[in-house]
Amino acid sequence: MSVAFRQASIDLSAIAHNVARFRALTGVQVIGVVKANAYGHGAPEVATAALAGGATRLGTATLEESLALRKAGITAPLMAWLHANDRRFDDAVEARIEIGISSYEQLLSASAVAQPPASVHLKVDTGLSRNGIATDDLDRVFAEAARLERIGRIRVLSIFSHLSGASGDDDRAQLARYRQIVAQAEAHGIHPEFRHLAATAGAIDIPEARLDAVRVGIGMYGLSPFADRTSAELGLRPAMRLSAAIAAVRRVPAGTGVSYDYAYRCENETTLALVPLGYADGVPRQASDRGPVMINGRRYTVSGRIAMDQFVVDVGDDEVHPGDEVVLFGDPADALPSATDWADAAGTINYEIVTRIGSRVPRRSHS
Ligand SMILES: Cc1ncc(COP(=O)(O)O)c(C=O)c1O
Repeated sequence: MSVAFRQASIDLSAIAHNVARFRALTGVQVIGVVKANAYGHGAPEVATAALAGGATRLGTATLEESLALRKAGITAPLMAWLHANDRRFDDAVEARIEIGISSYEQLLSASAVAQPPASVHLKVDTGLSRNGIATDDLDRVFAEAARLERIGRIRVLSIFSHLSGASGDDDRAQLARYRQIVAQAEAHGIHPEFRHLAATAGAIDIPEARLDAVRVGIGMYGLSPFADRTSAELGLRPAMRLSAAIAAVRRVPAGTGVSYDYAYRCENETTLALVPLGYADGVPRQASDRGPVMINGRRYTVSGRIAMDQFVVDVGDDEVHPGDEVVLFGDPADALPSATDWADAAGTINYEIVTRIGSRVPRRSHS
């Protein structure tokens, strides 16, 4: 079988396994986070696999992402939490999408839909200072939400927030703040059906933050959010494997310059392999001269600058051929470099490596 020119192969059984792992570890509901095209893995396929693994709800950042999942045939509960402040929500409610509310204005929009009640999740800021209802607006929003629920315009499904992950102590302080805010809502007569706070890191490290549900993103993709623990140590299986077929091979003399700025020069006569993936495909230019690859079972390093569409690997005197497979990352259990290795090489986090794989790279999902 010929090797794909470029390919992100997605192991959907790994997604289902990882969700099941979080179900078993936490004992609470798992909300599978499938925003940003499921962190680059392909949202409809991942959504289906996450549900098969036991997720009871899916979360996206934008309504457009949730609407696209509905169009793709996903019937499970879907929630979306990041909107323009003047967004109208008729399309969301018509598609049975639950709305994360971060402001008084958004609450009023939710209550104004043609087919009430709108199902909402009140997102509260417990310290991150990003979206979520601001502390000094909580009383106004809670009072109005309680009134709107009483008259049947909205239904409050949950109150939720997000942890900074700055430290265990900071996260526990946010949990304490979250509990105070839920009590404040209850004093206004709001009794949410469930509470959720933790994402992957909190779900693993802070048992008391698991509450009624955890929203799992990076862990569902089989990657570790921690610098000091690998996927395997967490019982997770990385789902994405990024590969290409060598496009050209050439033998060059000592002193040959490679790629832009000749940032790499061959010390000896050597063989260069051309890999048809570049920063337009999400391979980070910052990993030039550092990113790891595997060819025919041997590990090499990118030689010189990663360009928009391609990069070069000096394989020395090893025999490689056009069409041979180059794997950039996959499951280290298969002796492959990991997305985390690429993140380390680029000075970023594994989230960014998988999420930024570009649209020119076909996703091929399999079970
Ligand atoms: C509100 C919210 N919940 C959950 C997640 C999932 O986080 P993680 O990928 O760390 O599990 C995110 C991602 O940033 C988020 O914004």
